[in-house]
Amino acid sequence: MIKLVPGLFHNEQQTKQELCDFILHTNQLSIGQQCSNFEQSFAAWQGRRHCVLFSSGSSANLALIQALLNLQLLERDHLVAFSALTWATNVMPIIQLGLEPIPVDVELTTLNVSSQTFQSVLDQHPNIKMLFLTNLLGFCSDLEQITSLCAERNILLIEDNCESLGTEYLGRKLGNWGLASTFSFFVGHHMSTIEGGAVCTDDPTLDRMLRLVRAHGWDRNLSDEDKVQIRQEFQVDDTFFANFTFYTLGYNLRPTEITGFLGSNQLRYLPQTIQLRHRQWQKFNADLSRNPDLIHQTTSHLSLVSNFAVPIVCHTKTIADQYINRFKAADVEIRPILGGSIPEQPFYRQAYGETKHLTNARIIDQGGFYFGNNSGLTAMEIDLLHQLCLGQTVLSAVVMPV
Ligand SMILES: Cc1ncc(COP(=O)(O)O)c(C=O)c1O
Repeated sequence: MIKLVPGLFHNEQQTKQELCDFILHTNQLSIGQQCSNFEQSFAAWQGRRHCVLFSSGSSANLALIQALLNLQLLERDHLVAFSALTWATNVMPIIQLGLEPIPVDVELTTLNVSSQTFQSVLDQHPNIKMLFLTNLLGFCSDLEQITSLCAERNILLIEDNCESLGTEYLGRKLGNWGLASTFSFFVGHHMSTIEGGAVCTDDPTLDRMLRLVRAHGWDRNLSDEDKVQIRQEFQVDDTFFANFTFYTLGYNLRPTEITGFLGSNQLRYLPQTIQLRHRQWQKFNADLSRNPDLIHQTTSHLSLVSNFAVPIVCHTKTIADQYINRFKAADVEIRPILGGSIPEQPFYRQAYGETKHLTNARIIDQGGFYFGNNSGLTAMEIDLLHQLCLGQTVLSAVVMPV
């Protein structure tokens, strides 16, 4: 079978050996130096001043929204716009934390929110305070125009970059267009720390708040300088009690040293796998663009496409069903596009009823699916995938052992 996620790690055997050696020789597995090391190298790789590591991408999303509330950049009942085609735990914290979620439709040709789809929502809801954009499957729309629109209207912009680590638009990495961005290092994504996530930002105040939110609202993971400052601010002068002073609303969303160790280890392979995926995507997309059954994706505005999966979006559900059967018959593992149109999910409908205007998100949800764009695909597997992208019926390329 051509799997969505072919392995646990890049260079799997060696990585497992290095992980075993690390665990055997370390005295600390709870958050510590390995986490700090990876935070520094990931911030440098992303080109951001700060990176705060979390236990998952979902934790990073939750913590970021809580941090913005703690800093009073957002307030209860504020309107928060979000990409309709996203992951459930991007929208859940908006609801859980008392904000009002407003879905924004996406473009059929990029799968992402554009300045036009956002503007039409702004026309209906001029009081939107924040846009939580998801950079879906390594793509984006006209992010430069979206950024300008947010700046003009004083709207906070944050990006979920869990699916687009490494993509470059106008020479700038996705994840570097708003106040902060979130990342996921779940095993199925670009690089794996098993579970894991991060928030990157250039804002030192937000960085400090994220560290408080991550760990119980206490100051233990702040820099010495920030500890002195917060203790002065709250007049905590007894060091015995300082460790047990809870300054702000928080959770326990901490990663472990295993997350940090694996992060630094796997980051080494990231540049080369991004390049490989980019090359494979260009070739798959050349086939998809020639296939009249499909809605064609535009990625010429991206200088580097870093997607761990290739989306196939058919014009209708009936056509999609035929393609799904062909991929299954060829033993290629596929799955729906992300969480689909989130406002159509039971948890959202239960709270807000039916949302009608999300035409494109629905088309993509019903007519779309994806297969893995992985390193390690053999020439025969790539050939089979090319034929499927062109709309041909093929037999499995993988010979089962007898
Ligand atoms: C866009 C997006 N955001 C957030 C998440 C959640 O990340 P995690 O699985 O690390 O919690 C996912 C998960 O697949 C995702 O695709």
